[in-house]
Order: sequence, then C-alpha cells, then structure tokens
Amino acid sequence: MMSKPDAILVFDFGGQYCHLIARRARESNVYSEIVPCDVTVEELQKIGSRLNVKGLIFSGGPSSVYDPSAPKIDPRILDLGIPILGLCYGHQLIAHLMGGTVKGGSKQEYGITYVTVVHPVGVLKGMKKKEKVWMSHGDTVQSLPEDFEVLAYSENCPVAAFRHEEKAIYGLQWHPEVVHTEHGEQMLKNFIFEVCRCRANWRPSHVVEQQIKLMKETVGGEKAIIALSGGIDSGTAAIIAAKALGENLTAVFVDHGFMREGESSYVKEVFGKLGVKVTVVEASERFFKKLKGVTQPEEKRRIIGNEFVRVFEEEARKIGAQYLIQGTIYPDRIESGFRKHSDKIKSHHNVAGLPTDIKFKAVIEPLKDLYKDEARKLAKNLGLPDSVVWRQPFPGPGLAVRVIGEVTPEKVEIVRKADRIVSEEIEKAGLNKGLWQYFAVLTNTKSTGVKGDSRAYGYVVAVRIVESREAMTASFAKVPYEVLERISTRITNELPSVSRVVYDVTHKPPATIEWE
Ligand code: XMP
Repeated sequence: MMSKPDAILVFDFGGQYCHLIARRARESNVYSEIVPCDVTVEELQKIGSRLNVKGLIFSGGPSSVYDPSAPKIDPRILDLGIPILGLCYGHQLIAHLMGGTVKGGSKQEYGITYVTVVHPVGVLKGMKKKEKVWMSHGDTVQSLPEDFEVLAYSENCPVAAFRHEEKAIYGLQWHPEVVHTEHGEQMLKNFIFEVCRCRANWRPSHVVEQQIKLMKETVGGEKAIIALSGGIDSGTAAIIAAKALGENLTAVFVDHGFMREGESSYVKEVFGKLGVKVTVVEASERFFKKLKGVTQPEEKRRIIGNEFVRVFEEEARKIGAQYLIQGTIYPDRIESGFRKHSDKIKSHHNVAGLPTDIKFKAVIEPLKDLYKDEARKLAKNLGLPDSVVWRQPFPGPGLAVRVIGEVTPEKVEIVRKADRIVSEEIEKAGLNKGLWQYFAVLTNTKSTGVKGDSRAYGYVVAVRIVESREAMTASFAKVPYEVLERISTRITNELPSVSRVVYDVTHKPPATIEWE
C-alpha cells in the first residue's frame, strides 16, 4: 500500500445514504472515510498526515439549514481550496453559507425525478439533457450568489445542480450515490477523477499484510480470543488472526440457541480446516431463561447482547486471553461512534460486542476500515469457501428476532425448520447468488386452516426474500410463483403447527429487512 493513499472525505450530516458515498469512491479504488460534519480545519490537517485528502463530499441529512439545531461545518473549510461536492442537505448548506437562498418545503420531491442539465460540465460532464435522478428532499435552493452558476433544474427545483465559477465547489440536490440515479456512478467518478484528480491506488487487500504484521507485533507470544459467528466479518478476522497468531488464538462460537440448523458443527468444521482453533459454548438454556416473557424487539436485542458478553467474558477468563480480536467492520464503527445527526432505527448488536468487565491489554479490529463486500473479497483471497463467502447475513440475535413476540424453544424450532425449507428451495432453484437474504419469520398471529378433513388453527409463517446491494435499501424479490408454492407447501406439510404461509412484499424502506 502506498504510504498515503489519495482520499475523499465524506462529511456526515446524518443522511441514510452517507455510507454509500464512501462505498462508491472505494469501488473506484479511491480510499474514502466518513468524518463528522463538524470536523475542524485542525482535525483535517491531522487526517492529512495519513491520507492525501483530495476532495470533500457533504452528505445529505434530515435537517433544514434554518433549524437552530441544524448541523454546521467549520466555515474555514470552504476556503481550504480542497474540491467540495454537496449532496442534498450538503448542496443546500453550501448555497446557504455562500449567500444563496434556500426555501422550506412546500414543493417536496421524493423518488425518481427528471432534471434538465443546462451545462454538462465538471461533475455533470457527459450527462444528457434529461437525466433520471433520485431525489429525497423538502427544502430547495431558490437562488445562488453571483459567482455561482446553475448546472441543472427540475420542475420543482430551480437550482438542482450548481457550481462555483472559479473554485471547485459543486452541489447536487439529488443522490448520485443511490443506484436509482441512472448515471450517478459516473457523476461521482467525474468528481473524484476529473475534479479532484484522484489516483485509483487503493485496494482492500492492502489491509491483510498490514494487519498480520500489526497483530504479531501487538500480541507477541500471548493469547488472544475472537467471538466467531461463522459470518463473513468475524470469519475473515479469525483467518487473519490465525495466520498471525496460530495456536495462541482461540475462536469462541457461542451457541445462544437461536442459530440456524447445523450452524455450530458447520462453523467448527469449516474454520477448523482453515487452521482456526474453535471452541463451541452451548449456552441456550440461559438465553431462553433471560428472554422469558419478553416481547419487545429492542428489549430482546439488549438482553441477548448483554448475555452474549457475559458468556464470552467467562470463556476469555478460562482461556486467559489478554487480547480481544473483533470482526468489527467500518459501518459498525461509524454507527456506534459519531453519527450525531441520524435517526436510530434498531440496535444492531455486533456479535463480538465488547466485554465490559474484562480488561484486555488491547482490542484489535483488523477489518475496521472495510465495508462488507470488501471483507468478502478478502475472505475469498484468504481461501474461505464459497459457503462462507456468500453466506447470507444473519443477525447477531439470530432467530430470536425472527420469532415475533415472546421467544420460546418451541417457536424457535418452528422458525428454524421453516428457515431450512426456505434455504433449501431457494438454493435448489439456483436463486441464492442473486439474493441478499431469504428466510422465514414466525409471526405471532394464528390463522384458521384445513388439513386433511380437520380444522387447523396454526401459526402464520412469513417468508422474506430480498435483493439488496448493502442492506441500506432492499427490494422484495420477485421469486417465481412455483418456488414460493414449493416453499409454502413444504412448510405447511412438514410443520404441523403452521397453517398459513404469507410472502412479504415490502421494500426497505419503508420496512426493514428483518421484522424486528
Ligand atoms: P435491517 O433489518 O435493519 O437489517 O434492514 C439490515 C441487515 O442487517 C442484518 N441485521 C443484523 N446484523 N446484527 C448483525 O450483525 C444485528 O443485530 C442485526 N440485525 C439485522 C439483517 O439481517 C440485514 O441483512
């Protein structure tokens, strides 16, 4: 890796798509990091000691520039001479700070919109007269100061894109980072390569050598522990750690009782073959006990997260581990760190949640700067089998958040079997690689049916199958009816307590992928 890669910094104003901006830059092999929007010039200088900061992108966000609590920036940043691109709120903020007018939202635009490009230059180089873009805003920029020019407008938005006449400052009211903006990728590439003149000199694989070296130096001959879930993040971290530490690494798989069928033996076998020492801790009884009578999703997540940490701490003590390795990836860190201006949707617990009572000499997070698909690339390079590399994401609290309402062993067993049927049928039909997730949810509704000649009053199972790029947005998959029919027939035949199967046809947003 070059000592200082060219980089784009994304200023986080709390927008739902903030991560996608950094992702798009990295897909073009330009390193990108998200920073809090109120980062100061002095802090930027510090970042400059490790990164060659070539451009700044101001993200969208839920605020209006006139809100007293609206996120602000260090105004000196506009004068640093570093190219800037404002998106949505970022676009409005630049216009506002530079003396333009922004008006609150009588004419809101959400979803696909067509803009008219009047000057296809800079960020809009090569764009057609009419461009299909994704808008999601209430406020609009109404007018610009003298030294700015309008590059595009839409029916409800007189200044949909602008640029400064001399400085490299651009604004787009729409979201080029979202796939629904037809040429969004090209718009961002225009900014990164044409305006900022970045070199494409960053690859996720640079991380492996760096991390192995760092781990060897940090841990020396002592012992380290990692919580292994079998998923791509902790799995990849475990392989890197095993390469660096060998026998001095123990991977602990905590079976909380909400795992998919065959999961613990699968994890032990696959990772064992790859040279990772795996310990399986069977802890289901204590988890079910803690969840007795609990029905609220956030409460379930909190309890499972806490109990997980307790079990893990006990194991760490037994092993005498001085170092903790975690499979934390970049979005986990950002979400739990400084996202001041975004809304909390649900508490995603990272399975390798940091133990609170044990004092480790250090916590090492080899994937801390990577996104999911970057970790996936590494996993492939490190020899992880396709079954792990393409493993569906699985929530830390497992099947417990796929049983709506109180979690009991009986209900978990039903959803586990239904989950296996969904997986088998999707995989048999060869649909798995194109899908983000496919699973069953046990609703807390019962429904009348007829099985044989008798009345059946049983559970309603919902099947959720989604396509997604990075789980920020998702679409329900238009799976052939014959496949859905096989799933439904098998679930109602093989699970006597289920009388009805429904298919979830909701996108994210407005729903989330998991039901809880
Ligand atoms: P939602 O339901 O928020 O989920 O649309 C987005 C993605 O994250 C997965 N998910 C989790 N992953 N710990 C995790 O590691 C969690 O607590 C958790 N909850 C949801 C979910 O399966 C989907 O892929």
